[in-house]
Amino acid sequence: MFITFEGPEGSGKTTHAQLLKEFLKTRGLAVDLTREPGGTPIGENIREILLDPSHSQMNDKTELLLYEAARAQHVAERIEPALAAGKIVICDRFADATTVYQGVARGLGLGIVKKLNSFATGKISPDLTFIMDISTEEGLKKARDSSQAKWNQESGDRIEQENNSFHEKVRKNYRKLAADNPDRCFLLELTKPIETIQAEIQTITLQELKKIED
Ligand code: TMP
Repeated sequence: MFITFEGPEGSGKTTHAQLLKEFLKTRGLAVDLTREPGGTPIGENIREILLDPSHSQMNDKTELLLYEAARAQHVAERIEPALAAGKIVICDRFADATTVYQGVARGLGLGIVKKLNSFATGKISPDLTFIMDISTEEGLKKARDSSQAKWNQESGDRIEQENNSFHEKVRKNYRKLAADNPDRCFLLELTKPIETIQAEIQTITLQELKKIED
């Protein structure tokens, strides 16, 4: 089973992905938690290039291709083999992020992103996607606070440095993605305590696992 976590900056998806991994492991299930961009040595190197705030001159097309390059490596080297071995793979962001960030917020268009996503991922697509939602202001503050030390920049990494209207588009289009894909997407608004949200995530995951097993 392939589970992805998505959402705007600072939406808590990394914490929830980690908690879900621990929960599933205590139930004796084999789980591989990974992230995009990243998840392989090559992908992590590409991540550094993408997020480095000194790369402010990066062209939007270059950005799109680098996310897809990291993804192609990740699918081939890690995700596909783990799924083939019967593991549950949890991925912190995947192809939906490119749809929302590069396709819509950067304005490169959904057509090209769809083609490149499909080229990079082959037959792999998420069975279940949790979309975390948080106000743009609150999320950006959290994200910039936590990445400040790594990049030595108050305004965070290269993507976090984009203005509010860019990040508003991201938020709005993640909500749209959830509404357009009710078969696999669950929208979770971060207005409840973390334990309540995690309990919802666990219940939904167990239900979906059961459906796949039946
Ligand atoms: P993270 O903050 O969730 O680790 O993700 C790194 C950044 O990369 C985040 O700002 C979202 C962005 N991103 C894209 O713009 N397109 C993509 O395809 C992915 C996977 C991430």
